Amino acid sequence: MAATDTPMKPDGFHPRITAFVCNWCTYTGADLAGTSRLQMASNVRIIRLPCTGRIDHMFIVKAFERGADGVIVSGCHPADCHYTAGNYHARRRFGVFRELMDFMGIDPQRVTFSWVSASEGAKWKDVVNETVARVAELGPFDAYHELAGDTVTGGEPAPGPFEAASGAETPDPLEELEVGR
Ligand code: FES
Repeated sequence: MAATDTPMKPDGFHPRITAFVCNWCTYTGADLAGTSRLQMASNVRIIRLPCTGRIDHMFIVKAFERGADGVIVSGCHPADCHYTAGNYHARRRFGVFRELMDFMGIDPQRVTFSWVSASEGAKWKDVVNETVARVAELGPFDAYHELAGDTVTGGEPAPGPFEAASGAETPDPLEELEVGR
């Protein structure tokens, strides 16, 4: 994928963006942007899913816990979902998640929700560049990292959302996903 100078703050901060995209539309649109050699920021790591309807809120929370400064969720336009209504479910879920973000202290500006079809490479480029520029302006997302690494007693890290207090780990939803680029 053609990359351009990444938008960043004068202090040299390069935001890390995780993008959850559906296989049928946005992933193909991102591929088109790459093969068309459109200039875009290289800060984005793509996780390909069969459909935006597959996206669990915890994927987004986990991405932030693992160091993302921003997240993009993108799939087929309304009425174009290959599974009929997955994107409608995702849109409804995202509406609820916005309120949860507020509760968890995640600035909603750190998450972009968009529709990008397989033929919209130029739109994907714009979504990437605008998201990277906005998150670069917001700065690093230290708040949740500090919360996830908070100490309970004796300097031991607090258990993460996928680790029980006993130390026994529960399945991490990101483990099962395909990570692209
Ligand atoms: Fe693309 Fe459902 S297949 S959003």
